[in-house]
Amino acid sequence: MSAFHREKVLSVRHWTDSLFSFRATRNTGFRFQNGQFAMIGLEVDGRPLMRAYSMASANHEEELEFFSIKVADGPLTSRLQKIKEGDTILVGRKATGTLIADNLFPGKRLLLLSTGTGLAPFASLIKDPDVYDRFEQIVLVHGCRHVSELAYGEQLVAKLRDDELFGPLLAEKLTYYPTVTREPFRNRGRITDLITSKQLFNDIGQEPLNIEDDRIMMCGSPAMLEELRQMFDARGFAEGNHSEPGHFVIEKAFVER
Ligand code: A2P
Repeated sequence: MSAFHREKVLSVRHWTDSLFSFRATRNTGFRFQNGQFAMIGLEVDGRPLMRAYSMASANHEEELEFFSIKVADGPLTSRLQKIKEGDTILVGRKATGTLIADNLFPGKRLLLLSTGTGLAPFASLIKDPDVYDRFEQIVLVHGCRHVSELAYGEQLVAKLRDDELFGPLLAEKLTYYPTVTREPFRNRGRITDLITSKQLFNDIGQEPLNIEDDRIMMCGSPAMLEELRQMFDARGFAEGNHSEPGHFVIEKAFVER
């Protein structure tokens, strides 16, 4: 049995020169938890060329969705960015990852902190009714250099707000906070600074960070993750994993090439 399912590309959308998303068929045997990732890729010269990608679709959806960067000389993304409807991609049979609600202690507010394509696992998680059951408030923060890079997330949230099932859940519980670092925008600055200065919490009109109520998932640039880890460590927050839950969990946004 092959380690991969062969799936058909159903649609591709290019968001900027460096970002695209695509949808593909999903083998009925492919199971995952929202927030997890799998190896996906293409057959190149008869061999699988695979990278880790978080599912941006939720596990109740019939199709798979992925959100990717494009790197001109990246072995996989230079090819993957050219895929078209009807093409075949490979999807690993096994999903894994730490961005799972079970890896967190119970809490009241869930902070989802992401940069760039690190948004992808949270695109899946904000479509998970169980996450809305577990937390009273969910704050989705997406940091990018430029306003244009926010488009995928903005459209995702807008669509969910219009959804019959999720609309009311989002209205009650989800705060979406996009922020930009390199050009003017209503929210400006790095996620690290926005938390330290409490600007994020002032802007959304909520309590500042506190260890009793807050649980955190983060995914994005390795530099940001390292700074956030140190920041949370210093405040006594414990990192969770599959064997022991904690106050926060981390996944890096994988595909750099
Ligand atoms: P900045 O523009 O100030 O570098 P990248 O495209 O490099 O992955 O960055 C995505 C976003 O993450 C950018 O807004 C970038 O801000 C921000 N970022 C990069 N490094 C860090 C860090 N160490 N801490 C917080 N934010 C960061």
